[in-house]
Amino acid sequence: MRSVNIGLIGAGTIGGGVIDLIDRNGKLIFDRTGIKLFLKKVCDKDTKRLATFKSLKKSQFTSDHREILNDKDIDIVIELIGGINPAKEMVLKALGAGKHVVTANKALLSDSWDEIFDTALKNKVFVNFEASVGGAIPIIRCLKESFVTNNLELVYGILNGTTNFILTMMDECGYSFDEALKIAQSKGIAEKNPALDISGGDSAQKLAIILILGFGVKVSPKDIFTEGIENITPLDIQYAKNWGYVIKLLAIAKRKAKELQLRVHPALIPGHHLLSGVKGEDNAVFVRGDFIGDSLLYGKGAGSWPTASSVVSDVVDIAKHVVSHGERSPATHILRTRRESFTFHEHDSFDIPYYLRFSVIDKPGVLAKISTILARNNISIERMYQEVRKEGQSVPLVMLTHNAVEGNMKKAISEIDKIDVVTDKTVVIRIEE
Ligand code: HSE
Repeated sequence: MRSVNIGLIGAGTIGGGVIDLIDRNGKLIFDRTGIKLFLKKVCDKDTKRLATFKSLKKSQFTSDHREILNDKDIDIVIELIGGINPAKEMVLKALGAGKHVVTANKALLSDSWDEIFDTALKNKVFVNFEASVGGAIPIIRCLKESFVTNNLELVYGILNGTTNFILTMMDECGYSFDEALKIAQSKGIAEKNPALDISGGDSAQKLAIILILGFGVKVSPKDIFTEGIENITPLDIQYAKNWGYVIKLLAIAKRKAKELQLRVHPALIPGHHLLSGVKGEDNAVFVRGDFIGDSLLYGKGAGSWPTASSVVSDVVDIAKHVVSHGERSPATHILRTRRESFTFHEHDSFDIPYYLRFSVIDKPGVLAKISTILARNNISIERMYQEVRKEGQSVPLVMLTHNAVEGNMKKAISEIDKIDVVTDKTVVIRIEE
């Protein structure tokens, strides 16, 4: 059986893991599948970095991606440079040249899905992308294969390792957001520029990919209601904990008949919830389908080796077709043609419980003013706690509410924040039971 030739573009964190994996476990893969993977060319701008990989010969290095795209013997291109440009051009060129593509690039897929899969279909080649969502967790394979028999009602979970690591550090060690972020960066979990992760944008891109596979609907990540974790404080984590909750950044897709509710935001979840035990850079995705019931997929959501494992398993999947059916296979069209129409739940009409932390000067009548505004907006208090008074200083007044309509909550909070004895912007965090 011939080797399957691979061209790798991008030898950063995940690319390095791919090089390691093929070197260390190439024989294991061969023993299990009969497939011999050969890393024919590895492209990175930094060829000095390439020289640090002992398993690579100099003849395998290049700093010019065209050497991969123009190489007729390369069957599969792995794109791991991330971002939309120039990755998009490289992927389209590879597909146009009849090469299969494996990518971890959620920004590109959530932006240019149709163009990529149309091109793949036209050229009868595969695009595999397991590593684009949930690192080592096989959520893409489950949605494409294991759960393809089900109407899904609910997919939600922790899809970002960086933010989950930061929230875990704040929870377990009492670090501030900035301190926890620095630790995440020093461990190589958070990127140098972590803005996309922190803001929830990375989770929204991953949710957009899940939506295509799980619900047959294409939504731009920027149309998904998204809030990040930048305003979460150790104080809120502590108050939530006192009431038996933990705070997690969730990506949520809920379907009711033909209506979809989509949101990405930090949420209080009960301490007994399966997702509350998902810590550090781990991810977990909860899926509810009409025949499967509830399923939870859990594992490493980020990091070099876990993500590389998904990349190389995608390569093996394609390689099986390359060696058994010839160079090309027409199966990609399935991802292109399935489309369903949904209406989208307006975010002002989300009807969910909330955690509120007011900063108030403890004076007679303050609570009455706040509760009057809440009541006028049909918001009912479920629980309340106020810190011991410090003369003349602001104290936290913390509440959990019953279900409330988001639009009403916004109106109430904007009114409350104008009261003279309210000293700071009120913290509002949604609760997911
Ligand atoms: N930066 C992502 C995370 C990993 O922290 O989960 C890649 O999607």
